[in-house]
Formats: sequence, C-alpha cells, structure tokens
Amino acid sequence: MIRTVRTVAELRAHLAGWRDQGHRIALVPTMGNLHAGHHSLIELAKQNADKVVASVFVNPTQFGPSEDFSRYPRTPEADAEGLAQAGCDLLFLPSVETMYPLGAESAVRIRVPGVADVLEGAHRPGHFDGVATAVARLFNMVHPDVAIFGRKDYQQLQVIRHMTKDLAFAIDIVPGPTVREPDGLAMSSRNQYLSEDERRVAVEIIRNLRTLRDQTALGLPPAGLEQEAVERLTAAGFDVDYVAIRRADLSVPDGGSEPGLLGLVAARLGRTRLIDNLDFDGVDAR
Ligand code: PAJ
Repeated sequence: MIRTVRTVAELRAHLAGWRDQGHRIALVPTMGNLHAGHHSLIELAKQNADKVVASVFVNPTQFGPSEDFSRYPRTPEADAEGLAQAGCDLLFLPSVETMYPLGAESAVRIRVPGVADVLEGAHRPGHFDGVATAVARLFNMVHPDVAIFGRKDYQQLQVIRHMTKDLAFAIDIVPGPTVREPDGLAMSSRNQYLSEDERRVAVEIIRNLRTLRDQTALGLPPAGLEQEAVERLTAAGFDVDYVAIRRADLSVPDGGSEPGLLGLVAARLGRTRLIDNLDFDGVDAR
C-alpha cells in the first residue's frame, strides 16, 4: 500500500526526510479517478526525480455552478492501488479544509490573465483561476523540484507555466504526452459518463483533429478548416464549444501553414463535455 498523508504537517514531515537525503522531488497533481494517462505522468515523474508525490483533490474552485463537481467520480481506494503499482512514493489526499483553511469563499485567488481567458477560459469562466489557485497551494505545500502536467489539458499546461514563471516558483514544469484509447480517444475520467452510442461517436474528435492537421499541412487557411470541422462534429451529434487552430502560445496564426501549430477541440456529447488537442508536428501527431 502507498503511504498516504492528509495534512500539511504530515506531508512536510515526510518531505523533510527526503530532502535531508538530498532527494529531488516530483509532484503530480490530479483530481483522482486515475487512469493510464495519470499513471504515465507518474512514470515520467520517476524519470525526472528521485521521489514522487501525487495529490488527489477534487478542487471545488475550478468547477462552475452548473458543472459536475458533486458527481465527479471519486475512487480513492483504486487510486491508491494504481499509484502504488505505478511506483508513486507518497499520496497527498487533502480535505477541502486543508486546501482552503479560511474557506473557499475567503481563499486568496490566483488570476492568470491572457492565456486563461481564451478557448476553455471563455467557455468556463473562472475555471483556470480555480486551477491556478489550487496548484499554487500544492506548490507551496510540497515545494517540488519538478511538477508534471499532461498535454491533454494543453491550455491548463500553458496557464501553469505562466503562473510558475510570473510568481517565480522554482519548479520545472514537465509536460507528458496524451495517452489514448486504442481507437484514439484521449483517456479522461469523464469518458465513463458516455453511453455506448456516445462512446462510438466520441472518436470523431481525434479523427477531426487529424484531418485538420493533414489539411493544414496542405496550406489551407485555418479559419475555413475550423468551420468545416465544427459542421462535421455537429452533424455527428456534438454540441461544439470550439475548434481552433493555434500557435503553441495559443495565439491565432496569420493563415496558411507554419511550424508548431496545434488543433484544439471542446465539444459536448449529451451531458459530457470532452476536450482534446493535437500537436500538428509533435510527438502526439500520430
Ligand atoms: P485531472 O483531470 O485529474 O488531471 C491530472 C493530470 O493528468 C493533468 O495534468 C492532466 O493533463 C493529466 N491527464 C489527464 N488525462 C490525460 C491523458 N489521457 N494523458 C496524459 N495526461 C492526462 O487536470 C486536473 O486534474 C486538475 O485541473 C488539477 C491540475 C489537478 C488542478 O486541480
């Protein structure tokens, strides 16, 4: 079984022992209900540090009022077992009171301007403030040398990089590639909300991202390609929030092909909101 700590005092006591021995410490923040995508981040953490701490905390401040906070899947026993198997050294399982000792309403909040306002930020107001607010606390509690974030949530990764640089956290941010199901669907805790029919349709997101990549390589202008992908996804049964072709910093390309572009999609199937992205010339490309 994996060693589990719930309070900051217990966490710090454990970490102090590792620091005394000169160990480099990695943090992998999660909301639990862990799958192979999360486990791959533990693997990557082990390659980047001597000791790995995973946090599991379903963070209330990053969910909107009509979002799935209360029904978000919570599977603490399976998570602990999976983390142990993946080689994680310590599980930090804070309560809401530990993360927000003055209450969530009185919490000091981090607001990341610019990169947090577009795409996901435009469709989920306050979401990235909640993410940054929780991650900054975890950074202060753990003081890791390195923290691992998945490219699956590409914009979140950019928000965390922005915050880390601007607040001078002495932490290396290391991105992990997106782990996919055999048919290409990006692994996500939210996939289990899908009905059998919806699950079959869900693969259209990555199919459309691959089409966008191939069409962009031919030099076709992004705006028209985005619109066509919205139409195809809508015809397949999605309620599309956005299809976007962007530069790595999420700025809008001038048109035509250039290196470093990626495609990003957010769309709902029934009650389930799915997001994915594809780096058009990166490791995730095929
Ligand atoms: P959660 O959705 O649990 O994701 C935890 C980490 O796993 C994130 O860095 C996410 O990008 C990564 N991840 C999710 N699915 C993945 C996949 N298929 N392949 C690779 N990595 C994947 O993201 C959050 O939690 C929260 O916002 C958090 C950062 C913990 C702040 O509350």
